[in-house]
Amino acid sequence: MDTTPIRIPAELVAKLRQAESVAVLTGAGISAESGVPTFRDAQTGLWARYNPEELATPEAFQRNPRLVWEWYEWRRQLVSQAEPNPGHLALVEMERRAPRFTLITQNVDGLHRRAGSRRVIELHGNIVRTICSRERLVVEQWEETGEKPPRCPRCGGFLRPDVVWFGEMLPAHALQAAIEAAREAQIFFSVGTSAVVQPAASLPFEAVRHGATLVEINLEETPVTPMAHYVLRGPAGVVLPALVEATWPPDV
Ligand code: APR
Repeated sequence: MDTTPIRIPAELVAKLRQAESVAVLTGAGISAESGVPTFRDAQTGLWARYNPEELATPEAFQRNPRLVWEWYEWRRQLVSQAEPNPGHLALVEMERRAPRFTLITQNVDGLHRRAGSRRVIELHGNIVRTICSRERLVVEQWEETGEKPPRCPRCGGFLRPDVVWFGEMLPAHALQAAIEAAREAQIFFSVGTSAVVQPAASLPFEAVRHGATLVEINLEETPVTPMAHYVLRGPAGVVLPALVEATWPPDV
């Protein structure tokens, strides 16, 4: 294990302290330390033989709705047992300190809100919410008959999670708000995302085009790395608290 302490550049600390406007894009990597598996890690246990990219699609749901529903039931259970980690909490503190702050997440686990972040754009929806696959309206209650997926109490269509699947459009207002936040950010953080799924993956580039300082926090190299002004290699649950503490030291 690499035990080198994370070095936070003093120049970055100074920029963050002075920034009027900060935006952060997060991906599955920020929840990894809460025990929620990332998408592109190999799956374990029961689901090891399935590729998430083949389950999270409208085609998969059409072909085998029960399989897809059960996979989300399993993920929902993991998420309900998970707790926000120090990375999520450091972003709550960053929001408290930065004059303007937007958190854009690709995660559907709801952990940012549970940690206490307030201005959160959930680009890919939220796994806790359920919608009718026909009417696209949120459904709060339904009868459990044992049938999977359960049926919409209004129209009888299958229920599904309120998440964006591969090949589906993102909610237009959420995407627009994310683009605006990227354009106005003086500092833009790309945290724990492989930055390969569009359109979220283009947000760091949009930010740089509009003059932002780009910071990547990830265990590995990604397509964002060559564009980044600062690359902090390490777990988000260690790097983010170190950055926040260096920038706004706790009162003594
Ligand atoms: N700290 C920081 N980064 C981490 C950590 C960690 N503790 N653990 C993993 N990572 C990094 C990995 O190196 C990888 O780059 O997080 C990234 C996770 O990548 P993905 O699994 O591809 O997740 P994400 O980028 O969020 O996927 C985007 O694709 O599957 C769809 O809709 C789904 O929202 C998802 C989107």
